[in-house]
Amino acid sequence: MNRFTQILGTGSALPAKILTNQALERLVDTSDDWIRERTGIRQRHIAAEDETSVDLAERAALAALGAAGVKASELDLIVVATTTPDQTFPSSACLLQERLDSHGCPAFDVQAVCTGFIYALAIAEKFIRTGSAERALVVGAETLSRILDWTDRGTCVLFGDGAGAVVIGAADEPGIISTHLHADGAYRELLQVPAGIGNGGNGSPYMQMKGNEVFRVAVTTLGAIVDDTLAANNMTRADIDWLVPHQANLRIIKATARKLDLAMEQVVVTVGEHGNTSAASIPLAFDQAVRDGRIQRGQIVMMEAFGGGFTWGSALLRY
Ligand code: ACO
Repeated sequence: MNRFTQILGTGSALPAKILTNQALERLVDTSDDWIRERTGIRQRHIAAEDETSVDLAERAALAALGAAGVKASELDLIVVATTTPDQTFPSSACLLQERLDSHGCPAFDVQAVCTGFIYALAIAEKFIRTGSAERALVVGAETLSRILDWTDRGTCVLFGDGAGAVVIGAADEPGIISTHLHADGAYRELLQVPAGIGNGGNGSPYMQMKGNEVFRVAVTTLGAIVDDTLAANNMTRADIDWLVPHQANLRIIKATARKLDLAMEQVVVTVGEHGNTSAASIPLAFDQAVRDGRIQRGQIVMMEAFGGGFTWGSALLRY
């Protein structure tokens, strides 16, 4: 019998502190009107000084495990997508494993910036489909506020902190129908944090982005990948019930929805409240729409993301 992967439960976590556009007006030369018009963002959550990506990951993971009815001791795999790990090592996945009192199963991080959750889900899904795992925890967790230059209005207004998680398990039918991953390092300079451990901290430790060039490539690339994903599965736009896109910019989200002929009522949009939470944005949005009853069992969901690297990818699933 064929073996597939089903989403068993979802969870998410946001820091308590909210930073509004009005509060940002006092930090940099910007305005609520500009931010809303160009991005759709009204506010974002910002981690407390002593709150880390793993703290947020732990809360999201516990919520997902609870929703799935799975104990941490029953996990065969933990994958955390993050660009803002607590430490250089151990990985955030190992730190999370210790918090959950889970022992022995493989645990590792995936770094694909805003596409991180799609990468992590694609990897974990293959572990399950090939019989290497029965149950896996997949988390996207970020404290992007720590890699922002709070004097750069071109970036600091766009991002926020948070975490989202799913528990996935083996099933007799899909589940996850297909995943599609891509990258092209030729675009590395359009979106980056130049300084790293390996280059001796050379360059800025903060995010640098050529916003309108990223915007242009993102719209074209996401339009193409949703078409490719449908074609790979002999499906049409009419088969999709929900689009759960990476939450970077409402204008990019609307362009992809138009490409899919989807009404905005079929698109889960959280960018207004969360800003861009990078690897956390899709599982955060997904969890919200599952918990408020919009996304129902049996419905077809398209997830897509684009981010630094560039990386991009999609996941098509029957929830
Ligand atoms: N407030 C007020 N004005 C601003 C601000 C701000 N916060 N930021 C920039 N401006 C100004 C610029 O200086 C420029 O002024 P000028 O015309 O006098 O030079 C003007 O606004 C227009 O700037 P653009 O950059 O051309 O504005 P654009 O319409 O492209 O919007 C934005 C900028 C929102 C950043 C958009 O380009 C965007 O969303 N890009 C994509 C970002 C993205 O998707 N990232 C995804 C991946 S994130 C990841 O992987 C971590």
